[in-house]
Amino acid sequence: FTHTVPLLSLSNVFTSNELVNWHGRVEKLAGTNTINYYCELKYDGVAVALTYQDGVLVSGATRGDGVQGEDITSNLRTIKSVPLKLVGDSFPSRFDVRGEVIFPKDKFQALNEQRIANGEQPYANPRNTAAGSLRQLDPGVVATRPLDIFIYGVGAYQGEIPDTQEKVLEWLSTLGFKINPNNKLANDMDQVEKYFDKWAGRHQQLNYACDGVVVKVNNIELRDIIGSLGREPCWATAYKFPSQTAV
Ligand code: IVH
Repeated sequence: FTHTVPLLSLSNVFTSNELVNWHGRVEKLAGTNTINYYCELKYDGVAVALTYQDGVLVSGATRGDGVQGEDITSNLRTIKSVPLKLVGDSFPSRFDVRGEVIFPKDKFQALNEQRIANGEQPYANPRNTAAGSLRQLDPGVVATRPLDIFIYGVGAYQGEIPDTQEKVLEWLSTLGFKINPNNKLANDMDQVEKYFDKWAGRHQQLNYACDGVVVKVNNIELRDIIGSLGREPCWATAYKFPSQTAV
């Protein structure tokens, strides 16, 4: 499957200092110092793109290398939170959305308990299990896996879409897509730091794996001015949580 608009990667920052430096570069490239950021969680799952034609899901693919992915339409169709038909009629005739497929932690634990009870080897972690499930050849088997999805953006589209990330996600939610309720608009860097601190302290309590927050310039027009360097947009970065060590 060839993605019409490539799926980009994200640069990383690991400290408050690195985040402030990143913000400085954004201001310089944008030519303004009044930038709002949209903060989202960084899900640790499987990146996918879903294409809709006249409101109907026509294809779904993995990210792959960003340009070429695998066609997994039949498997994605089995996920309950992937709309097969959109609500209403306020959408472009053809467009694609991007998101992350996750395996909820509680369901993962239940699956492993069942496997152990059956004398089978437990799976290593929710992300690999989500990826393995999506690669299954039999959609009937995938349908038994309780996969879920969070949509975080639009890829290729014809016509008009809202002009900020916040409004794009609100609009996608009205069409029936599952959007994470923990997303939040930040008016300055203090608010970005507050969002990061809040989730660094409690992301483990969420029912899905996250490894940081994604900070995105909210204004879509400004993103085009800021641009990209190679495969990484300069208008977004992943602010990673301190990594956990486990035995
Ligand atoms: S936005 C340019 N938002 O991170 C924007 N990506 O390195 C790129 N990811 O595999 C994507 N949570 O699937 C975006 N809230 C989020 C995300 C997110 C997880 C993944 C994405 C991709 C990787 C990008």
